[in-house]
Formats: sequence, structure tokens, C-alpha cells
Amino acid sequence: MTQTVHVPLAGREYDVRIGEGLLARAGQEITGLLKRPRVAIVSDENVAAQHLATLEAALSAEGIESTALTLPAGESTKQWPEFSRTVEWLLDQKIERSDIVIALGGGVIGDLVGFAAAVLRRGVRFVQMPTSLLAQVDSSVGGKTGINAPQGKNLIGAFHQPALVLADIDVLDSLQPRDFLAGYGEVVKYGLLGDAKFFDWLEKNATRAAAGDKELRAYAVKRSVEMKAEIVLRDETEQGDRALLNLGHTFCHAFEAATGYSSRLLHGEGVAIGCAMAFELSSRLGLCPQEDPSRVRAHLKAMGMKVDLADIDGDLPGAEALLELMGQDKKVVDGQLRFVLARGIGQAFVTSDVPKDQVLKLLEEQLANR
Ligand code: GLY
Repeated sequence: MTQTVHVPLAGREYDVRIGEGLLARAGQEITGLLKRPRVAIVSDENVAAQHLATLEAALSAEGIESTALTLPAGESTKQWPEFSRTVEWLLDQKIERSDIVIALGGGVIGDLVGFAAAVLRRGVRFVQMPTSLLAQVDSSVGGKTGINAPQGKNLIGAFHQPALVLADIDVLDSLQPRDFLAGYGEVVKYGLLGDAKFFDWLEKNATRAAAGDKELRAYAVKRSVEMKAEIVLRDETEQGDRALLNLGHTFCHAFEAATGYSSRLLHGEGVAIGCAMAFELSSRLGLCPQEDPSRVRAHLKAMGMKVDLADIDGDLPGAEALLELMGQDKKVVDGQLRFVLARGIGQAFVTSDVPKDQVLKLLEEQLANR
């Protein structure tokens, strides 16, 4: 069964379709958007090897001609060279303002192709076909697109909403367990930031979802997308509430920078550790019940996820250096560190009012336990 989450942004509304077999039905799903039966697909080498033929056959079955560009897999693709290659390729393919570009891949492809679509001929429509859990629940929805700069991640980009998102639950079967769990870091974030009942549900069901239960996976994706859509509707360009989606991210960005954005720590793993630390900090500041951080940690452990700095292999810099890296987060405003803290599970809020010595103490304790 396919479920739909509608994102009713005025003038740019779109559906997120979630379910099994969407890749194989992509032609039927997309055909109504097309002014002419021709699309351009951009993917990466890993995803293309697994899914491109299915997508091309699905388009062809509806009489839709397609042309495809396959980029190298990995975060280093999300930079100017592959971006300009993509834009120029789309121009060579004679993609016009009324055409559709399909992003088939994880967060790197979705962000890069979305940004290419945003600037190509001053904006063409694009369809997100997210193939990682992280992309299905987070990056494919909400219109943040962009690439990395030498100065930091995602510093060049545009808000450009997709015309449609097709989240095929079947493609999650092809993920490595570590990648699935990293994406789960973003799923659990939604429960923690705004829906205590969803967190309860995850405590009961997420291990079976991780083990492969498709119905449970579809519900977890749908609820995450609903929550993201609600927040994006309130605050599309992150003037306020959208920052709630950064629960765990101030910590995470420092840990990712400290590990060189390498496979030592995947983004979603850093988010999970960051969420655990945000709840610990909230409890120490007397904001949330003392049992909440233990509950968060117990759930992450039950999922087999990283919870502490001790779970990251290799050397890490000291607490002061980590705090300094937090200060380089792009969400710093007027030099003030902004944290997402919580008054309880499902009750997050944004604040700049966090004593640095408490953050330092927490980091020192975590480092001492390594
Ligand atoms: N990934 C956070 C956001 O879309 O705002």
C-alpha cells in the first residue's frame, strides 16, 4: 500500500509517496507531471548499479524516454566540480524549464541535483527518489538543496522544493545495516523532538523495523515525513521552528568535523550521539526529567547504535577543541552557540542560553570514559 504525505506549501505544494514498489511504478507516478515524455536522471555509481535499470524500465513502460548521468558515490561528489558537470550535462541534454529532473540516490545526490535544478534556467522542477533511510526521512523533504564548500558543509545552496518525492520502502533492503541504523538516528530524532508517542512506538517496534519489517518501516518513514512536513510548513526557511530539526546536530557537527567527515562516524550516528548528549545536558540543566536521558540511551543501545564518544574509534581532540568546533557550526548566530534542548521526550526547544562550562564538563566526562 502506498501512503501519501501532502506538503501544502502555497504555490509549491507536493506529495511524498511512501510505499513498496514505487521505483517499479515510477513511470505511472511521474507521468502526470510531464509536459513531454522525457526526463533526465542523475544518480551515483552504487545506486545506479542497483536501481537505475528498474527506474528506466518503469519510465519506458509509460512511454517516457530517459537519459542518465552517473556520478561517483560519496560526500566528495557534493562539490563544485561534480555540480558544474551536472548542470552542464543537463544543458547538453536540452532540459527545458518545463522538464523534470530525477534525483535517484541518497542525501548527496538529492542535495546536489536539487541545487542543480534550482539554478538550471533559473529553476526547473525535480523529483526526489531517495534510496537511503536518511534521505527518505530527512533530506528529500523540505527543499534544502546545496553542496559543500572548503569552509564547511552545505554552505552553498538554495531552497528549492521538489515536485514529488517517491520513497520506495523496498530499496531500503539494499542498505547495509550500518547505513540503515545511521538513517534511524534521524527517525528517532523526530520522536525526541516533537512526538513522545512516536518515541514510545519506536521503543516497541524499531528493532523489528530494522530487522526488515516493511509495514513498520513504512510507518516510521511516514511519521517522520509528516513531522518534517509540519515543521517545514511552519518555517520553510529556518527563521524559527525549523531549527528544531537540528536536535543533536550541534554536537554531531563537531564530532563529524573531528573525525574528518569520514566513515569513522556517519552523520546519523553523530545525530544519535548528539541527541543522547542534548538530553543529558537538558537533564543536568534541570530542564527535563532525570530518567529521560537514560531512556534515550537505552533505546539507542537496544538498536545497536553508537551512544557515547567512547563508541567512536580512533583519537578525538580535547573538550575545548570540540567546543571550538561547535562554534564553527553554521547555525551559530552572532557568535552565540545555539542548542536544541528538551523539556522532556517530544518537547524540544531552541536556545542560545546554555552555560559553556556545562557543555565542557559533559564533553570532558565523555572523553574520560573512552
Ligand atoms: N535537515 C534539516 C532540515 O531540513 O532543516
